[in-house]
Amino acid sequence: MNLTIVGTGYVGLVTGVCFAEFGYSVKCIDKDSKRLEKLKSGKCPFYEPGMDELLDKHINKTKLISFDYTLQNNLNNSDIVFITVGTPTRRLEDEADLSFVWQVAEEIAENINKYCLVVTKSTVPVGTTREVKKIISNKVDEKLFDVVSNPEFLREGSAIDDFIRPDRVVIGTENKKSETIMKNLYRPLFLKETPIVSTSIETSEIIKYASNSFLATKIAFINEVADLCEVVGADVQQVAHAMGIDKRIGSKFLNAGPGFGGSCFPKDVKAFSSTAKKKNVELLIINAVNKSNQERIKKISDKIISNIKKNSTICFLGLSFKPNTDDVRDSTSIKIASKLFEKGYKLQCYDPEAMKNAKNENSNLFFFSSAYEACEGASAIIIGTEWNEFRALNFNKISKILKEKIIFDLRNIYIPEDLKKLGFEYYGTGK
Ligand code: UGA
Repeated sequence: MNLTIVGTGYVGLVTGVCFAEFGYSVKCIDKDSKRLEKLKSGKCPFYEPGMDELLDKHINKTKLISFDYTLQNNLNNSDIVFITVGTPTRRLEDEADLSFVWQVAEEIAENINKYCLVVTKSTVPVGTTREVKKIISNKVDEKLFDVVSNPEFLREGSAIDDFIRPDRVVIGTENKKSETIMKNLYRPLFLKETPIVSTSIETSEIIKYASNSFLATKIAFINEVADLCEVVGADVQQVAHAMGIDKRIGSKFLNAGPGFGGSCFPKDVKAFSSTAKKKNVELLIINAVNKSNQERIKKISDKIISNIKKNSTICFLGLSFKPNTDDVRDSTSIKIASKLFEKGYKLQCYDPEAMKNAKNENSNLFFFSSAYEACEGASAIIIGTEWNEFRALNFNKISKILKEKIIFDLRNIYIPEDLKKLGFEYYGTGK
């Protein structure tokens, strides 16, 4: 099968290399020539475990992946074209900006000359895939294409594994022909007994937003429970553990912390609610989740400020929005560090992969090349992201270089008693 993928961002590239792993021939398209040059030389433009190896394998050895900056001459050989461009939040609004999707639809319309499936994989509000169909059918005979919605459920940091061993694959189609092609595409996963959920286009589009919004709801919920735990002296980790054993609740996404961040949840809860509003449906729970998560940054920052002397130096560990990625989009760490900087603190930061992106977000922060260097002379340590390398820090060594022994373990990766024994004033989340 020959596949074309438009957009070499996170979703597009992971999808591309993983389909190449299945043995399909993949052409990745992107207008950004700098990015394309980097990719052609086998370098992934972002940090994702396993990507460099797979890119190298499929560019240089299997030669199943290649790159181009235009769809021209690429659709005549393609069975399926995936739209994987970004759908960021529109500035000052909550809804998704679909301008890149519309541009790709126009470009597809100009270049289709034989039957091809057009698949939206970008996270798009319900109704978008039908709009894509309208745009293409303005220029192209409807017999020459079908549209499909096929949302992704990839987590940054474990995206390759999520693609190759997914919990489910969702395909939203409007006829048997396109459903059969999509099922054939995902045959390698079907053979591994992955559930393939076949739905209408609208249902598929909703599944994506409902899934992300539900996971965000779980996080916002446990974070509010954490606030109560702190006040009454309960332990949110034990609460979450006991709740999660109940199979109806499930243990995943019940880790309390500084709130959800990243390029998906914050944007998707807003867009879900905004789409519903346009249809005169009020998603009260989702609105509350958004509000609760936004207020969390202030709550956590206030807690830190009230426990650390004004104008002192703080060591901030972990800047990416989660571990195993260099992505700092909507990172709670950057937001909290920036708030503390505004209040007059000096921030000494370290992250294993995200320093370059963090510098672009806030150049007022100071950056160091190890956790220990960032601790030097600080009056407190904040662990903002639970990278593995922060899980077993040498606190005997750290004790000697800190000015004051205060730690904010925002992700609850340490046992409070262990650090208290070493003379630390310990603040976790919800305990
Ligand atoms: C999320 C979804 O998990 C994917 O299924 C989806 O495909 C993706 O969005 C997307 O729409 O593209 P991702 O944003 O990469 O993936 O990361 P998550 O692991 O879901 O974490 C999101 C945020 O929630 C992070 O800030 C994380 O620290 C936070 N989180 C997660 C918690 O605070 N507690 C938890 O228990 C879990």
